[in-house]
Amino acid sequence: MPVTIPVNLHEYEPLARAAMSDMAWEYLAGGSGDECTMAWNRERLDAVWLWPHVLRDVSSVNTRLTLLGVDLPFPVLLAPTGFQRLFHRDGELATVRGAGASGALYTLSTAATTSLEDIAAAATGQLWFQMYVQRDRGFTLELVRRAEAAGCRALVLTVDTPVLGARDRDHRNQLELPPGLELANLRGLAAHVAGGPTFVHGASNPFLDPSLTWDALDWLVSEARLPVVVKGVLRADDAVRALERGAAAIAVSNHGGRNLDTVPAAIDALPVVAEAVRGRVPVLMDGGVRRGVDVVKALALGATAVMIGRPYLWGLGAAGAEGVERVVRLLVTELEMAMAQCGSASLAEVTRDLLRPL
Ligand SMILES: Cc1cc2nc3c(=O)[nH]c(=O)nc-3n(C[C@H](O)[C@H](O)[C@H](O)COP(=O)(O)O)c2cc1C
Repeated sequence: MPVTIPVNLHEYEPLARAAMSDMAWEYLAGGSGDECTMAWNRERLDAVWLWPHVLRDVSSVNTRLTLLGVDLPFPVLLAPTGFQRLFHRDGELATVRGAGASGALYTLSTAATTSLEDIAAAATGQLWFQMYVQRDRGFTLELVRRAEAAGCRALVLTVDTPVLGARDRDHRNQLELPPGLELANLRGLAAHVAGGPTFVHGASNPFLDPSLTWDALDWLVSEARLPVVVKGVLRADDAVRALERGAAAIAVSNHGGRNLDTVPAAIDALPVVAEAVRGRVPVLMDGGVRRGVDVVKALALGATAVMIGRPYLWGLGAAGAEGVERVVRLLVTELEMAMAQCGSASLAEVTRDLLRPL
């Protein structure tokens, strides 16, 4: 039997499923509540109709962009995801290698199982660092300084997680990091106890601060020497508030349907936020992006770039660094093909008129 190599992102999913424990898989794959939002992220992307132009010169398709001062070969970034050593023995180290090999910017999570210094040492591409502001602000500030020292080019402040969503799968499985794995960036934090709980079901979690307000953004913007991306915004008024308080970019996200169930699909929230932002800062979007056409749709609705979460974790689980690299390459190749077929030779030519109203 010839070995079948996946030809699209979806085909990595069953390979990843087969490569990891049930507990790890459910953490990777699951959403919150009845997983309505998680399903809508996909369904609503599929429901957007493309409306391509014909007879335009697309002999050369250019996907390059500059984002927060960084030149990127394409508008697809790796979203922050925690606990990656649950999915592959090399975890975040494999991801950063795959990201570097493919040219993708990688956003390392506060909840990583590898320290940001170790990731930075292995990085050959661009890094951002995602922040869960901790109750201990002194420790959080140290984390900011460590990210700066490690060469990260932006901080991503996740604001949609005052508490975790109702993740029934993880609750049922009593999700825990196995012995030998830890939240490596949080070493030294009082809440970080070796062998202590890492997942808590309920309105309290030792690694999240539910008392955060907009003051936390002011604080981070004033302390950090890096641009701050605010991730997890769904409303126009919150996007404007974030802008006014110094956000360098807004990431429209419902956390892949993992937090508050029944919020709108990311692709539906995107134009609402993009219209309020009016091009003043870049707008990112994640949630359900699996195909090149999905990227085109998000850009047409006002995104500067998209992020992917689960798909690169499928690549990681199935084939480590090589899997991550291939997932990115497959998606970017599809993006180039979709742009050409829409008559768009550059990202500037991916405009709203490429979508047909339903
Ligand atoms: C296993 C897993 C872990 C995640 N961990 C984090 C995290 O630590 N911080 C964060 O801001 N978002 C986290 N997310 C959300 C992603 O950054 C992103 O918003 C989401 O995965 C995008 O949707 P997609 O998986 O459909 O591409 C996580 C997502 C998954 C699937």
